[in-house]
Amino acid sequence: MAPTGTTSSTSLPAEAQALEKYFVLDKARLNEIVSGFRREFKDGLKNFGRDTAMIPSYCLSVPNGTEVGTFLALDLGGTNLRVCEIKLTGNHDFTLKQQKYKVSEALKHGDAKELFDYIAESVDAFMTEVGTENGEDEAVHLGFTFSFPVEQTALDKGKLLTWTKGFACKNAIGHDVVKLLQDALDAKHIKVKCSALVNDTVGTLLSRSYQHGPALIGAIFGTGTNGAYIDRVETIEKLGKDAIAESLKGGPDAGEFMVINTEWGAIDNGRHVLPVSPFDNKLDRESINPRKQAFEKMVSGMYLGEIVRNMLLYLIDFSVLFDGHSSSIMNTHYGLDTALVSEVEAAKSDDEVIKVLTNDLGMAKEVVKPADVEIFKWACRMVSSRAASLSACALAAVILHTGQAQSKGTNDTIDIGMDGSVAEFLPFFEERMRAALRLILGDDGEKRVKMGLAKDGSGVGGKFAVSLPATAAVG
Ligand code: GLC
Repeated sequence: MAPTGTTSSTSLPAEAQALEKYFVLDKARLNEIVSGFRREFKDGLKNFGRDTAMIPSYCLSVPNGTEVGTFLALDLGGTNLRVCEIKLTGNHDFTLKQQKYKVSEALKHGDAKELFDYIAESVDAFMTEVGTENGEDEAVHLGFTFSFPVEQTALDKGKLLTWTKGFACKNAIGHDVVKLLQDALDAKHIKVKCSALVNDTVGTLLSRSYQHGPALIGAIFGTGTNGAYIDRVETIEKLGKDAIAESLKGGPDAGEFMVINTEWGAIDNGRHVLPVSPFDNKLDRESINPRKQAFEKMVSGMYLGEIVRNMLLYLIDFSVLFDGHSSSIMNTHYGLDTALVSEVEAAKSDDEVIKVLTNDLGMAKEVVKPADVEIFKWACRMVSSRAASLSACALAAVILHTGQAQSKGTNDTIDIGMDGSVAEFLPFFEERMRAALRLILGDDGEKRVKMGLAKDGSGVGGKFAVSLPATAAVG
C-alpha cells in the first residue's frame, strides 16, 4: 500500500484520472497550504472575529501526571453526549465511568433550552445510575467539554460563536454556554457546579500531557476537526498590551503560556489555498453551513463519505462507473457513511469491497464489474489520503508557528495527542500524515513528531481544567 498522494494506474477512465489534481498534493502544494494556514493563525491571534478564531482558552498550564481527584465531565459535540466520572490516580493514570446519551436531530435543530434541559437531565440520570463520590450537600464540580467555537473570557465563561458539525439550535449563538447549562441544572435542583469550559482539543492536549508528559498539540480528527496548542501569551496580540503585561507579571493567576484553541476547521473559508474540488463545492453548497468550515469539510468524519459519494455520482453520470447505474442509497444525501470508506480502505479482498457496494450501498450485483471495484477503491483512497495530507498541513503549521521545527538538542520530541474516529479508525491515517509531514518538515523534523491517541481525551481533559489555575478575564 503506497501511503500518500499516489497516482492511479492508467486503467482508470480519463474522467477519473482528471480528478487526481484535486487530491494528490506534492511538496510545493503542501508548502503553499501550510503557508496559508500560518497566515490565518497569525491573523486570528491579532484580531477578534476571524473564522480561524485562535481562541485563548484561559488554560495556563498542562497537568504533569501527578494530579489526583475525582471529577464529573460532560462532553458535547461528537457523535453522542457523554457524561463521565473520572478518577485521576496520580501516576499518569485514571479510571473512567461513562454513559452515552443520544442527541436527536430534533434536539440539534430545536431551541437551545431544550438541548440544555436534556443535557441537565442526562447529568442527573448519570449521577443517579452511577453514583458520585461527593458528599450529600456539596455541589459536584463539572468540567464541560463543549466542542464548538466559543469566545472564552474566563475558564468558566464563553459565548458560542457559531454552530458546526450539523448542530443549529436557536437562541444559543452569542449566549454564554456555561450559563445555559448552569440555569438548566439549577432549574432542576441538580447539585452540580459547572466550573470549567473546555474545547475537546484543549481536553485532548491536557489529557495527553497527563498521560505522557507535556504535549504541544491536542488534535481532534473525528466528526469535526480542530487543534489546540500551547503558545506564548505575548503572541496573542488581540488580548492587548496591558492584559499581556499583567499576565506576564507573575502571581498565582498569571502565566507565560496559554493553550489556544485554533478552530482550524474554519481555515481557508475564502478558498485561497485548499485544493477544493467540484465535489467539495457541492458538499458545501448542500450543507447546513455553506461557506463555513472549509477545511473541516475536507478532513473530518462527518464529510469524507459524502465527498466519495459525490465523486461516484459524477462518474456514474459519465457512465464510466457501474455502466451509469446508481441506487437509492447512493442517491441519498449523506448516504455513504465515512465508516464505509474505512471498511474499503481496510478490505483484504475485492469481495469485501463488493459487499460494501451491494449490501451497504444497495448496488445491484450484476452492475458491479471488477473495473468499478477499482474505481471505488481509488475514490476512497483519494479522499482519505488527501484528508491525511491536509491534516499534516495543520499540524505542521502549528509546529512551524511555534518555532518547534528546529531541533533544540537530543530527545527533542514534539508530542501530539489525537482523538476522534478518523484518527482511530481510518486506515493508514497516521502513516499518510507522516508521509506528508516528511515532505513539509523533512525527515528529521518528522521523526521528532510523536503522535498518540489520547482516547477519551475530550472528556477527561475537562476534569483537568477544573483543577488547573486560570487567569481572570482579560480583554
Ligand atoms: C468543530 C468545532 C470545534 C471542535 C471540532 C472537533 O470544528 O467547531 O470546536 O473542536 O469540531 O470536535
